Amino acid sequence: MSALLVLWLVLSLWGAVWGRPGQYCADQPAGVEVFAGDSVTFPCSFVFPRTLTGITNRTIVFQAGNISYCGDRIYNSRYGNTTQEYQGRVSLVGDPQAQNGTITLTSVRTSDRKNFCCRVQLLNQNTIIEQWQNGLGTRLTVRVGENKMTMHQPPFISALVGDTVTIPCHFSINSKKEIQKKSVSSVQWRFGQSPSCGTVIYNSSTGAVRREDRERISVAGEGGASILIKRVTTNDRGWYCCGAQVTGDGQVYTTQRERGTNLTITGKTDQMKIKQPKEVTFTNSSTISCNFTLPEDEDPLWLGIYWMFGNPREGFAYHPHPELIHPRYRGKTRLVGQSDLYLEEVIGMDNTNFYCRVAMRLCNDTQQNTIETLLEEGAGTLLRVNADPSDQTKIIAASVVSAIILILLLFIILCLVKHKGMRKQVQQSKQKKSESATPEYEGTESVRKEQTTDMSLYTTIEETARASCDPSNNGGQLLYSTVNHSLSSTNHTSSPDSGKEVFYADVKRN
Ligand SMILES: *[C@@H]1O[C@H](CO)[C@@H](O)[C@H](O)[C@H]1NC(C)=O
Ligand SMILES: *[C@@H]1O[C@H](CO)[C@@H](O)[C@H](O)[C@H]1NC(C)=O
Ligand SMILES: *[C@@H]1O[C@H](CO)[C@@H](O)[C@H](O)[C@H]1NC(C)=O
Ligand SMILES: *[C@@H]1O[C@H](CO)[C@@H](O)[C@H](O)[C@H]1NC(C)=O
Ligand SMILES: *[C@@H]1O[C@H](CO)[C@@H](O)[C@H](O)[C@H]1NC(C)=O
Ligand SMILES: *[C@@H]1O[C@H](CO)[C@@H](O)[C@H](O)[C@H]1NC(C)=O
Ligand SMILES: *[C@@H]1O[C@H](CO)[C@@H](O)[C@H](O)[C@H]1NC(C)=O
Ligand SMILES: *[C@@H]1O[C@H](CO)[C@@H](O)[C@H](O)[C@H]1NC(C)=O
Ligand SMILES: *[C@@H]1O[C@H](CO)[C@@H](O)[C@H](O)[C@H]1NC(C)=O
Repeated sequence: MSALLVLWLVLSLWGAVWGRPGQYCADQPAGVEVFAGDSVTFPCSFVFPRTLTGITNRTIVFQAGNISYCGDRIYNSRYGNTTQEYQGRVSLVGDPQAQNGTITLTSVRTSDRKNFCCRVQLLNQNTIIEQWQNGLGTRLTVRVGENKMTMHQPPFISALVGDTVTIPCHFSINSKKEIQKKSVSSVQWRFGQSPSCGTVIYNSSTGAVRREDRERISVAGEGGASILIKRVTTNDRGWYCCGAQVTGDGQVYTTQRERGTNLTITGKTDQMKIKQPKEVTFTNSSTISCNFTLPEDEDPLWLGIYWMFGNPREGFAYHPHPELIHPRYRGKTRLVGQSDLYLEEVIGMDNTNFYCRVAMRLCNDTQQNTIETLLEEGAGTLLRVNADPSDQTKIIAASVVSAIILILLLFIILCLVKHKGMRKQVQQSKQKKSESATPEYEGTESVRKEQTTDMSLYTTIEETARASCDPSNNGGQLLYSTVNHSLSSTNHTSSPDSGKEVFYADVKRN
């Protein structure tokens, strides 16, 4: 409590010193987890008003504090120097010119269990003209010793009222030897209004704690630790922390997150003016365009593009995190340009509505240093699935051929009646006829294959690689970050980082 008060005082003072409320924000996730001895990355993105001039250099100062206060400065990218404790362990990996102040810390120790804050300084020659920082920083959780487990969760998720939301949670175990037959034996989720979450709302052995949640909250997928919440309302806003018990080779591993996922739930708004066509006709594959406008006078801290399908929404047709894509579309969709959806042929796909969603993190321009997440959805595109024109020609060609064969047959029979003894030709034409009928059977077979993959994919929740302990790293690996902007058909300007997916947590004082 007193820590928060100190923090509040510090921030208000700082606000008074650095005056002008405005678009000065630094975005960091609320927490990351790592095993002792490993390296960890602290994502940090920042924005400042575009009107600011005379900046010659941008410096990132990294601070570490024991509790929630940011504490001492441990690194300064201007001189590349660190304090004794962090000698040779801290480096700037982000490009401050691209508003990226990401820092890496190597050889993590138990004593690094702290809050790390990202502070941005804008210089004109040797004079600091503006500086600001993230208020709460990133909590580093260090798991020490053999056979320890860490959990990975995204820093934030945004959803619209009525959505079904999945909050992913994966574990990794620190073990020298490969552990066979790992399985999640129990899962708990806590929920609350602070990043450290609060009370248990779900326990896999007893279900949701509140009776009214019994039907609504479940574990997503067989054997996973992710949680699924149906029909979310604004009451579901807040922080979710996962905890799990994993059994492997007769050992039990237990852990829970210190910092959770901030679930943001918003109603419908239309600030981004998302535009998508009313209808598109599907041939072999289709591209559905999605255009939107970014705020004129402000850069977003982060941008996310998603495509949902179905009315009511059944799931994601595209999500940067493939695990969250509905099995029907997984591996069959990708983004073209910044936000257009490319869709391959999906067997059994009926006329479906596809909805472009854009999420954005923005620095609030009235309240100092607070970050907001905006999520909006387009009006939807009806994808009409017509028979493939090339298939149609095949069908026509096939019927023409069979008609000719039939006529020939009749003719031959007539000939036979007249001049007997020409059976060979009849057999050949019969063969041809049966050949033209086979494609239909192949079609049925692939439908069956598709369904079995659906089932198996629903149940796979993979454990994330041991090396990628930081959720932002995970994000980077799992997501489609190689968007080719030169192919873009969108007509808006975009931030340089927007194709990439890095989850950041928003930090705010209460
Ligand atoms: C913070 O951590 C340092 C070193 O670990 C320790 O010396 C100091 O007493 C701690 N301060 C508080 C307020 O816990
Ligand atoms: C780095 O060097 C500058 C200039 O000498 C000094 O002011 C600052 O305190 C040093 N920072 C750290 C983290 O040692
Ligand atoms: C910031 O830089 C890091 C390190 O180069 C990179 O992994 C990350 O994707 C960048 N973040 C953004 C938002 O571009
Ligand atoms: C500013 O950046 C330039 C070029 O990157 C560098 O040469 C100069 O030393 C920097 N100045 C300061 C004060 O850091
Ligand atoms: C989950 O429920 C089981 C059975 O009631 C209980 O033993 C366990 O302690 C619970 N776990 C948590 C974290 O509440
Ligand atoms: C989006 O912008 C591109 C390029 O200006 C345009 O070709 C396309 O028709 C637009 N799409 C929509 C749905 O407005
Ligand atoms: C459609 O699929 C057929 C075969 O499946 C292929 O030959 C043709 O090139 C495809 N057309 C397009 C536009 O991709
Ligand atoms: C900024 O925060 C204030 C106070 O919380 C809120 O009223 C306002 O709508 C926010 N501004 C934007 C642009 O969302
Ligand atoms: C969680 O997200 C909401 C919506 O973006 C934001 O208003 C709130 O400040 C966030 N909470 C924290 C502690 O970052």
